[in-house]
This record gives sequence, C-alpha cells and structure tokens, in this order.
Amino acid sequence: MGCRWAFLIGLLGAMWLLGSGHGGQQAPETAAQRCFCQVSGYLDDCTCDVETIDKFNNYRLFPRLQKLLESDYFRYYKVNLKRPCPFWNDINQCGRRDCAVKPCQSDEVPDGIKSASYKYSEVANNLIEECEQAERLGAVDESLSEETQKAVLQWTKHDDSSDNFCEADDIQSPDAEYVDLLLNPERYTGYKGPDAWKIWNVIYEENCFKPQTIKRPLNPLASGQGKSEENTFYSWLEGLCVEKRAFYRLISGLHASINVHLSARYLLQETWLEKKWGHNITEFQQRFDGILTEGEGPRRLKNLYFLYLIELRALSKVVPFFERPDFQLFTGDKVHDAENKMLLLEILHEVKSFPLHFDENSFFAGDKKEANKLKEDFRLHFRNISRIMDCVGCFKCRLWGKLQIQGLGTALKILFSEKLIANMPESGPSYEFHLTRQEIVSLFNAFGRISTSVKELENFRNLLQNIH
Ligand SMILES: *[C@@H]1O[C@H](CO)[C@@H](O)[C@H](O)[C@H]1NC(C)=O
Ligand SMILES: *[C@@H]1O[C@H](CO)[C@@H](O)[C@H](O)[C@H]1NC(C)=O
Repeated sequence: MGCRWAFLIGLLGAMWLLGSGHGGQQAPETAAQRCFCQVSGYLDDCTCDVETIDKFNNYRLFPRLQKLLESDYFRYYKVNLKRPCPFWNDINQCGRRDCAVKPCQSDEVPDGIKSASYKYSEVANNLIEECEQAERLGAVDESLSEETQKAVLQWTKHDDSSDNFCEADDIQSPDAEYVDLLLNPERYTGYKGPDAWKIWNVIYEENCFKPQTIKRPLNPLASGQGKSEENTFYSWLEGLCVEKRAFYRLISGLHASINVHLSARYLLQETWLEKKWGHNITEFQQRFDGILTEGEGPRRLKNLYFLYLIELRALSKVVPFFERPDFQLFTGDKVHDAENKMLLLEILHEVKSFPLHFDENSFFAGDKKEANKLKEDFRLHFRNISRIMDCVGCFKCRLWGKLQIQGLGTALKILFSEKLIANMPESGPSYEFHLTRQEIVSLFNAFGRISTSVKELENFRNLLQNIH
C-alpha cells in the first residue's frame, strides 16, 4: 500500500536530513536563517512549497477563518476541565492567574447553542442509531434469541462509538462548562518546566509508535543525546510505515505550533494597570533556532507545516458533509447562521482550490484490513493523548490542548472516512458519516490555531531579519 509514496517521502526525507543537521559551515547565517533556512522550498510530503503555503494561508485563508471563528457557533466550546488525571496524582495546580479559564455565565451563551447543540446532535445521533438498527438488525434472522439480539445491539453501539478518536469528553456531565474561546486566548501562561515536560514526555514516550531498540528520548526537547543516536532515531523514523511516521510528526507539529503561540503572545510587561502581550524573539529562538536546538528547531517547524497540510487535506475531503442543504451552523439566529454557513463554504472552497499534490491513493487508505488496523491503532493513541490532557496542571493549556487534540482527531477521522464521505447522499441525513457540533468546533478552531502559527512565522521571520 502507498509504497510508491512512502518511498518518495523517504527519499525526500533522506535528502532533507542529509542537507540539515550538522551543516551550516558556509557563510555565517543570520538569526532568521538559523530558524528558517531549512524551512523553505519543497516539503517532504507534498509537492507544494512553503512559500506557496504561506501566501495561501496568510492572505487568503487566515483572515476569513478568523472571522468565522469569532461567530457564536465557533467561539463557544463545551469542555469538562474537571476530570481527574487518570495516570498520576501529583498534579501541581497552577496557581497563576494567566492559567485560569473563565467559564461563561450561562446567560452569555446563546440559547440556540445551549439547547440546540444537544438537540442537534441528539436528533442526528438518534437518526443514525435508528437507521443503523433498522439496517443491521433488519437483516438479522428473526429467530435469534433475545440474548443474541441484545448482544448485536451492543456491537452496534460499540461500532458507533468506536469512530470517536478522542475520549468523548462527557459533555453531558454536570462538570462540563461552556467556554468562550475568544475570552480565553491561547498564550503564554508561565506553565513550563518539569510539569509541562512530564506531559510532553508521556505523550511522546508512551503514545508514539515506538521502536523497542531506540533509547533516545522521543521528546525532541529532551537534551543530551549524541549525534549517532540522533541518526539512529531519524533512520528509524524514516523506516516506519508512512502513517506511523506521520503520527510522530503530527504530535511534533502540534507541539511546535503551541510553542509558536506562546512565543508570539508572551507576557512582556505587567503593571498594575495593564498587561502587555507580544512577540518574544528570545523565547522563539530558544525553541526553534537551528544551532541553539542542535538542529531540532527547523525540523519542528517542518512538522508544523506537515500538520497544516494534513488538516488542510481533511478539510478539503469533508466539504460534501457541509455542503448538504440539511447542514446548519445552528445557533438559533437564522440570518447569521445562514451567513456563517456561506462563509464556511467559501473557506472550504478556497481550501479545495489549493493544489494539494498528495498521492491520493495512499495514506490512511491502504488495503482494507491494514487500514482498519491502523485506524484502530491511531484511535487508541489519540484517546490516550486526550486523557493525558486531563493531567495538564494549567487549565488554559488543558483547554487548548484538549481542543487541538480533538480537532486533530476529527481531521484523522475524516481522512480515515474518505470513502464514506465520498458516498454520502447529497441531501437527507447522512447515516454513515457524521460530525457532532463539538467535533466541528474543535476541527475549525484547531485549524485556526495552526493557521495562526503559520501567519506568526512570517512575523517572526520579519522580526529576526532586523537583528543580527
Ligand atoms: C496510554 O498511556 C498510558 C500512560 O501514559 C500508557 O501506560 C499506555 O501504554 C498508553 N496506551 C497506548 C495505547 O498508547
Ligand atoms: C523573553 O523570554 C526569555 C526566555 O526565553 C526571558 O528570559 C525574557 O525575559 C523574555 N523577555 C521579555 C521582554 O519578557
């Protein structure tokens, strides 16, 4: 499956690896080059280059996406931030004010969303269940014992829920609250050091597809590894099947993206009157400068672009779902809902117009058995990562972590469901493929975050060009 493509990526990846890392013996590099020199030209996974992505994102997609994400439908995200950490007890609750999340007073959330999100997903879910019951149970011989019928029902239920990549965040729980994302921007919180480390370590170490033989910490931020181990690590990575390699790169891209935000919205100054947030070039360099990070920084940035392309691809694949006349961005305000749907479709058509030169036959679409196995592997890993998010001590980081993991999980669910989406009826309910409001909100907000990162990279590139 997808071998040609995997080979091509391997080749490009190897070329890129050879060209990176210990280089830099030529002319002294400027500060900007030290972060960005390898982040240009063609990307490994797509015959599109970084410059094209930057232009497309920064001028065509980003402004519209920002507008969409400010709408009521997308700004309110229901989340349970009170779930206990299932893996360890000693969470340091971060006492910083900047970490706190302000939940909405219940009168701030438009009524339409409060009641409709339940209604919307409930009605849709009931429809799906009813239809699937009708379809699957209908085919069952009536002579089945009651017990067996019950079992079949359970399987059906399991099949339904097994499509969720992330722990369904129990949004019906009394602990779940609506959060206004615009009031809780993702920015520097001071949450770093050992606690943050532990989270990322667990994510990389225990959840990435890991080789038995490699001792190097998978967390690229971990220090102290020798060059030869580093080479073993990357050759191992290149040897993985394309999807498993992708998993590592997606996590690394997400990590990078979050760090770009924290560097771009750093708490620069605090007086009793106001707080000033802005770009901290030193912080950015510490995370992405090729020399300061021993070659890791530019790799992280490449992974960020990879994540961008994967989510972009998911959006382009899911267009038919949103195009159905039955689909609404329901908040109860008919005029705005219709306007927002138009804006959403405009964005999706823009996404579709981007020349994504992926090999259409590969990636999450190998032979059915293999693809199902992979899908299951990915799903388990993702569920786990979303549970790890309950261990993040900083609530704001937990909020954005959960949202972005759910968004990425939704993107993968879409990519794994390409065929179902392609066969979706043009009108009427879609029984085979469905996205809940939570999934939709997280998908677009997560993409909005990466789109913002790409835009911020341009800002940092300009800022770095002014220093020597
Ligand atoms: C899930 O995470 C836990 C704790 O980090 C780990 O022990 C377990 O192996 C992980 N499972 C999977 C499927 O990654
Ligand atoms: C920028 O970040 C560095 C740490 O990376 C910190 O030492 C410095 O104080 C920050 N600068 C400002 C203006 O806050």
